[in-house]
Amino acid sequence: MKAGIPTEYLKKKIGFLNCKIDLSKKTFIPRIETEYWVRKAIKEIKKELKDKNKKIKVLDVFAGSGCIGIAILKSIGNSLVDFNDIDKRAIAQIKTNLKLNEISSKRYRVHKSSFFERLKGRRYDFIFANPPYIAKQRVKEVESSVLKYEPNIALFSGKKGIYHIKRFLKEAKNFLKKNGIIYLEFDPDQKEEIKHILKKNKYQHFRFFKDQFRKHRWVKIIYKTQKT
Ligand SMILES: C[S@@+](CC[C@H](N)C(=O)[O-])C[C@H]1O[C@@H](n2cnc3c(N)ncnc32)[C@H](O)[C@@H]1O
Repeated sequence: MKAGIPTEYLKKKIGFLNCKIDLSKKTFIPRIETEYWVRKAIKEIKKELKDKNKKIKVLDVFAGSGCIGIAILKSIGNSLVDFNDIDKRAIAQIKTNLKLNEISSKRYRVHKSSFFERLKGRRYDFIFANPPYIAKQRVKEVESSVLKYEPNIALFSGKKGIYHIKRFLKEAKNFLKKNGIIYLEFDPDQKEEIKHILKKNKYQHFRFFKDQFRKHRWVKIIYKTQKT
């Protein structure tokens, strides 16, 4: 069977929460599982924000189209977001989408780097991460249109799909403020290994959540540097 071009790439723009997302640079197509947990995370952050005027600093580290960070900027008025991605197509796409959603340039920065390379010295209240997490050894299970049209760099993460998550978790705590929070998406099969990686890296407070299809899909991690 011939793989057809994903309809999302044929549309002028798609919706992601309250945002318009252009995918003309053929970056990763935002998934409804991501939309599901990002909605919950935003709701939670807004609810728990004690000082409504305090600026909150957010990093969208594997930003792709920029959908996660832009949803945060549109939903949380006092948020400032740094976007990061390794792929130049994504960098261009993020900038287009920021303009499309009329976000003030005072509220964001866009960085092109691998992991945290260009973010040295920065500290965030929240880090949002939807990294590549498909195992190369499971390539045959991936839909042919995804393989053919979506960027490979957005999909695969080493033989077992865990390379990015492992490296991300090792480095992320150096970029969090005290009691900073990470929201991380993963493949349901990776839950136990992630638990192990979290413990190894001395993250003590975390909770796993399921997506709308009842599959473990995201973890919330609070990095407490001291006992409180
Ligand atoms: C699964 S996509 C997620 C995109 C978007 N956040 C979303 O949820 O739709 C992963 C993104 O990570 C980027 N990426 C891959 N390796 C990276 C690295 N080493 N450092 C930074 N970004 C990377 C890819 O270019 C891709 O845009």
